[in-house]
Amino acid sequence: MATLAGKSAIVTGASRGIGAAIAKRLAKEGAAVAITYSSSPDRAQAVVDGIVKDGGKAIAIKADAADQAAVREAVQKAAKEFGKIDILVNNAGVLALGTIADYPADDFERALSINVKSVFTAVQEALRHMPDGGRIITIGSVNSERMPFQGGSIYALTKGAVASFTKGLARDLGERKITVNNIQPGPVDTEANPASGAFAEVMLGLLAMKRYAHADEIAAMTAYLAGPEAGYITGASLLIDGGFAA
Ligand SMILES: NC(=O)c1ccc[n+]([C@@H]2O[C@H](COP(=O)([O-])OP(=O)(O)OC[C@H]3O[C@@H](n4cnc5c(N)ncnc54)[C@H](OP(=O)(O)O)[C@@H]3O)[C@@H](O)[C@H]2O)c1
Repeated sequence: MATLAGKSAIVTGASRGIGAAIAKRLAKEGAAVAITYSSSPDRAQAVVDGIVKDGGKAIAIKADAADQAAVREAVQKAAKEFGKIDILVNNAGVLALGTIADYPADDFERALSINVKSVFTAVQEALRHMPDGGRIITIGSVNSERMPFQGGSIYALTKGAVASFTKGLARDLGERKITVNNIQPGPVDTEANPASGAFAEVMLGLLAMKRYAHADEIAAMTAYLAGPEAGYITGASLLIDGGFAA
């Protein structure tokens, strides 16, 4: 039986990669899904079309995660379309890399806006439309716990922020039976971090499992956390990292 039948979800940054895999998986479990994107309308529409073709319900909404008003509006649109938001997945994120000595302040601000501020905004707005028992899931990173190479301080900062935000939120929302969790992947084969990329050799050397994760594996964990069997998991940062942090 579909575990998310009757539920509605919004997944940010889901025109490709991990977000797209999550949107498809939540839809397969029966949820109506709104996805956001910033610059790839065709690919976002292809994700929606795929879900609809398989009998699901989905819409795509343009919303740059760096633009907090757009994020708020996207959540409102999803809530209007589906009547409520049971599941929020904060996935949109950028891999902000560079050495601290010459890291541009504008890039730092942008990384904070997309990876951290948009999570605050989406959570705040989603809560206005979320029934008790809802689910908030953020895609953080193993790099909040382990950053074993140079140039990742800003990215680690942003992913550390959402890990600690998750704990505070869990405390605030427990009385409403809303769970809040942070999934921390290791390397996942996407366009942002291709398994065949120049960096792959370094990555593989850091893993216990000598391969990248598939986006579907992150989607499976997300679907579990979104589902009825995960009602007692909250405030957690869960690694799915092939042993990267072991
Ligand atoms: N891949 C990894 O190894 C890995 C590991 C740990 C954590 N993560 C995290 O997982 C999440 C997804 O990563 P990914 O590898 O799937 O990335 P990706 O392949 O680069 O895909 C990013 C997705 O987010 C959207 N996006 C990018 N910037 C956006 C913005 N400003 N506003 C709204 N949407 C935006 C993109 O859509 P548009 O093209 O339309 O902008 C795309 O759909 C990120 O939070 C990342 O930090 C990834």
